[in-house]
Amino acid sequence: MAEKVYRVAIVGLGVIGRRMLANMPGQGRLEVVGGWDLSAEARAKAAEDFPWLRIAESAEALIATPGTDLVYIGVPPKAHGLYARAAVAAGKAVFCEKPLGVELADSRDLTELVEASGLPQAVNLALAAARGVTAMRAALADGSLGDLAGCDIRLHFGRWPRGWQHSATWLAGRAEGGFTREVATHFLYLVDSLLGPARLVSASAAYPADPEAAETHVLAQLEAGGVPVTLAGSVGGAGPDLVEFTLWGSRRSLRLTDFYKLWRSDGEDWGYALEGIENPALDSYRLQLDELVRRLDGEANVMPDFRCALRVQELVEKILATG
Ligand SMILES: NC(=O)c1ccc[n+]([C@@H]2O[C@H](COP(=O)([O-])OP(=O)(O)OC[C@H]3O[C@@H](n4cnc5c(N)ncnc54)[C@H](O)[C@@H]3O)[C@@H](O)[C@H]2O)c1
Repeated sequence: MAEKVYRVAIVGLGVIGRRMLANMPGQGRLEVVGGWDLSAEARAKAAEDFPWLRIAESAEALIATPGTDLVYIGVPPKAHGLYARAAVAAGKAVFCEKPLGVELADSRDLTELVEASGLPQAVNLALAAARGVTAMRAALADGSLGDLAGCDIRLHFGRWPRGWQHSATWLAGRAEGGFTREVATHFLYLVDSLLGPARLVSASAAYPADPEAAETHVLAQLEAGGVPVTLAGSVGGAGPDLVEFTLWGSRRSLRLTDFYKLWRSDGEDWGYALEGIENPALDSYRLQLDELVRRLDGEANVMPDFRCALRVQELVEKILATG
């Protein structure tokens, strides 16, 4: 029997929605039935760049499209709950962007609702299936790192939002943006996934004078599975951006840079450990969609669910609230 093809409705046609439009059709078992965005400009641009895409009349009409199996939600955080609830009400599986939202009470309520529905659900914490992360999981399982001394997350952005995100004005704002929600979320998810649920030991966040503007600095100490975890992030200053996640082991340490690039050290200089993967980012997007299909099939998979994303969001919002 032929394998089922899942029909996907895409709400939100910005940076990440368009990434899904570019990658879902190639997965082979995901068929995009249509897309919709609040912005007429985003709808027109998507229609121009993806001529095969059917633009729906409204989000409601899109979600109600007959035969739709899955609703992907790629809008800014505050609107995730609206569409996730609409998808559940229509009996569709949900694939939601991170963070689940901004208000913790609302995200807790949403998580319970999604879980109670029994529908397949996943959150796009994009490192879940990345090759470097799979290597980290394997190294932790086979003991090749030795004893874990700690885990460090270091982030620096010359400006925020980054240049390629200029159209996403919400990212600059304190209400739902900032690099902690946008980027640290991915690495706090890794801590949760690799080491176990984390506890916040101490934190401080610094904000500019403009009450609408997102944080410029965060510093947090956490503990996960008995391992000390440090998060240090900052914005401002000339120089290349830094996105780095390190597991420090007594025998071997592993490091991700630029989200997806894996490095290894046995005490000497870092050596690149993903030879042969031409584009680690694209490779990860594809592996993530393969895992999503496994989730929809009901097979074993590494996709994070709403509960996991909620644990991460609780940490992020606690850190941001210290400012
Ligand atoms: N998992 C990842 O790797 C990853 C990467 C980038 C962004 N994201 C997440 O994806 C989400 C969207 O980010 P983005 O970078 O695509 O932002 P974006 O601003 O580029 O795109 C968001 C789109 O949503 C539309 N929109 C806003 N409010 C809406 C609403 N109420 N209904 C329908 N459409 C609405 C906007 O018009 C815009 O086109 C965020 O939660 C972000 O954190 C995740």
